[in-house]
Amino acid sequence: MARAYDGLDDDELDAEPETPWKMLLPMIINALMSIGVYLTTVRLIPKLRDKFIKANLFGIDMSKTTQDKVPEAIGVVCGCMFLITMFLFIPIPFSDTLTGGQFPHHEFVELIAALLSICCMLLLGFADDVLDLRWRHKLLLPTVASLPLLMVYYVNYNSTTIVVPKPFREYLGMTVNLGILYYVYMGMLAVFCTNAINILAGVNGLEVGQSIVIAASILLFNFVEVDAKTWTHQMSIYFMMPYIATSAALLKHNWYPSKVFVGDTFCYLSGMTFAVVGILGHFSKTTLLFFIPQVFNFLYSVPQLFHLVPCPRHRLPKFNSKTDKLEMSCTRFNVRDVGCVGRMILYLFRAFGLIKWHAKGDEVITNNFTLINLVLKLKGPTHEAKLTSILIGIQIACTCLAFAIRYPLAHHFYD
Ligand code: UD1
Ligand code: MG
Repeated sequence: MARAYDGLDDDELDAEPETPWKMLLPMIINALMSIGVYLTTVRLIPKLRDKFIKANLFGIDMSKTTQDKVPEAIGVVCGCMFLITMFLFIPIPFSDTLTGGQFPHHEFVELIAALLSICCMLLLGFADDVLDLRWRHKLLLPTVASLPLLMVYYVNYNSTTIVVPKPFREYLGMTVNLGILYYVYMGMLAVFCTNAINILAGVNGLEVGQSIVIAASILLFNFVEVDAKTWTHQMSIYFMMPYIATSAALLKHNWYPSKVFVGDTFCYLSGMTFAVVGILGHFSKTTLLFFIPQVFNFLYSVPQLFHLVPCPRHRLPKFNSKTDKLEMSCTRFNVRDVGCVGRMILYLFRAFGLIKWHAKGDEVITNNFTLINLVLKLKGPTHEAKLTSILIGIQIACTCLAFAIRYPLAHHFYD
């Protein structure tokens, strides 16, 4: 049955009134399970390290002098533990309706579909790590994985009508029906969330660190908004706590100096988890607000991602073994090989001081366009652990900014 609501905005879906205790008990059980899964995962990862290396799943840390094999795609361990916890948790929020009473089919199917999409993304992410897929596949995989979710959205709500922000109501009216475009938006959100984390990567602990900050921000937002009637925020909390627990276990081993790499598996799993809770929770815009550094990094990366400017296979910072510090990584190319759009962007980036520029005739050397390199440009050579801390610090500062924007702005633009 279609229910009209503000499709792009946060909303509450009225469920049966519940007592606070009925709401709190599953959360307490979920929190206890999260502590348990943290303790298990943190012990499990070192035990599996050798198995991954034996299976040829390893990488070389490019920012170290040692050429040791570091197991890759350990995100699959973290993802499996997260899913196992969620599978064991499934009956808990429905326990009193399982033995009688009105069973909440809508809520149940949402939970199962969310898990199906995340599970699917974990599988496809692992396939990417094993097979080293091309970029166009990286865009396709999250779209495919989000299909079960979109199907449930269609069956449960199929509401593609959005409330127009106050300043535009004069021209567009109170609401606008986006139709199929709304589904395209949701699919693209999944593609963005997964890839945005994957391209802000390459220094020890950064992929997991940023993901934990985003998850903690979503959790905090849910705690502020949740009440006995808001199932969607409750569900998001059920997802975020075990996610943070398993990721924290992974971070312990992925922090400088990394004993394991998280792989694309982890980046996809994380992005999909955030997209899923954002879509089903009807707070996708708020979720995107917690991605400010990733949005900036994506926009800054666009010229290289779309090959308007040459893009090397790896854009992570350059390691200087003499100083034990990381420096900006650079790309060398001939300006004549760059098209007019590329040249215009290069001109703008230079004008705003966003890139290092060293030209000798037509030969040019610039830094790779990533937020990591931009930080190094501003700060100078930095030790890897410190660089990760700075970038996570930026992520936390952006969360504060997101909250500062979210509440006043929402009241300004919507009733
Ligand atoms: C993305 C980035 C790429 C970056 C890479 C690093 C884009 C378009 N792609 O590619 O620029 O170099 O992530 O993760 O922005 N590694 C380290 N230290 C780390 C993490 C990774 O040296 O802390 C190296 C290891 O050799 C590891 C490899 O990066 O094996 C993993 O790279 P992969 O995840 O396959 O790269 P992409 O996601 O394709
Ligand atoms: Mg990667």
